[in-house]
Amino acid sequence: MDHIHEMIDQKIEELEREGNFKKEKLFLQHGTTTVYEHSVAVAKMSCLIVMQLHLTVDLDALIYGALLHDYFLYDWHDKSRGERWHGLTHPITSLRNADRDYHLGTIEKDIIRHHMFPLTLTPPRTKEGWVVCMADKICATRETVFRTRHEDIQPPMPPMGPEVGV
Ligand SMILES: [Fe+2]
Ligand SMILES: [Fe+2]
Repeated sequence: MDHIHEMIDQKIEELEREGNFKKEKLFLQHGTTTVYEHSVAVAKMSCLIVMQLHLTVDLDALIYGALLHDYFLYDWHDKSRGERWHGLTHPITSLRNADRDYHLGTIEKDIIRHHMFPLTLTPPRTKEGWVVCMADKICATRETVFRTRHEDIQPPMPPMGPEVGV
């Protein structure tokens, strides 16, 4: 458990240091949850899904992509910004921003680009992309319907070697 939480914390630290990830704290996602809190919750939920389903994934890429999946960096509630098609366009905006600020691999790009499937028509091409797509919907539902802040998401992590899940 600590292993995964340490990985998530390390990635957050890295993203805050190297780019504009902290800016996600300025914008609300659903209800009173910020985009930052939502993204961390999606990373944790993605890890939880991986553990529950005993999936073998690239955990580094999964966490990195999950944290950056909504890296659009604007207030999507502000209609004056002309983001009327936010639902459809923000995966591309997030990918463009993340690609500008960080080094992304194929899996991270797939996660960000396709996380809104089926609203956007093209499905994820990687296992990690499917996991984040699912985790995002679970977290969005919790935020919107149950107004939850996600403090309760604690992936039950068994002891893992560095090679497990990679
Ligand atoms: Fe999104
Ligand atoms: Fe999201």
